Amino acid sequence: MTKKQLDQVIEWFIDAGVTDLISDSRPTYKKSAKDITTLAQLKESILKIDIPLKDCAINMVFGVGNERAEILLLGEAPGAEEDKQGIPFVGQSGQLLDKMLAAIELDRTKVYITNILPWRPPGNRTPTNQEIEMFRPYVLKHISLINPKVVVCLGGTAAKALLKTSQGIVQLRGKWINIEEVSAKIIPTFHPAYLLRAPSQKREAWQDFLNIKEAISALI
Ligand code: URA
Repeated sequence: MTKKQLDQVIEWFIDAGVTDLISDSRPTYKKSAKDITTLAQLKESILKIDIPLKDCAINMVFGVGNERAEILLLGEAPGAEEDKQGIPFVGQSGQLLDKMLAAIELDRTKVYITNILPWRPPGNRTPTNQEIEMFRPYVLKHISLINPKVVVCLGGTAAKALLKTSQGIVQLRGKWINIEEVSAKIIPTFHPAYLLRAPSQKREAWQDFLNIKEAISALI
């Protein structure tokens, strides 16, 4: 449509008494993740994204921890408690995660923690493929700004989203994986929420954490 034709349509609407135009799709603000060079810019850009996902959430949950960490832990999405506090992994699964970190002499001052999605999906549903696609460039930018040596994917959703694989967490866990877009070594392991439901799998997760500890000592 030319500008002249558009003007004529608008004029027609005005003559017909139309005062508001309602679109059925919301405009999505998306500053290219490529243009972002700091964590503050990344946070600001994500805050400006206008998508239905954030409608039910209280807070955006960005990231927490040491911005110069050697290890970055990547979860799925905030839960109810994280949504309330705006901090990743502060609910029950976060408490287990803290214990797992303590077991290899780490804590939140030494690692960085973030999620694939920055807002809690309504009813804690699994992130959709569309949401994952949309946030993946921001997750990659987040990882590159922290520049860790190791990325730990907590659970199948984080692993699938980052690695772009359809393999499940049982196949992926405990394996070191490299992808072109991330300079760190990546290791998927079970999500702490899953370990709370299936405590017999803690043995495997413990192996993965020992593996991570060993890799970090070798890399530093
Ligand atoms: N589960 C996640 O994947 N991330 C959180 O921040 C909390 C629970």
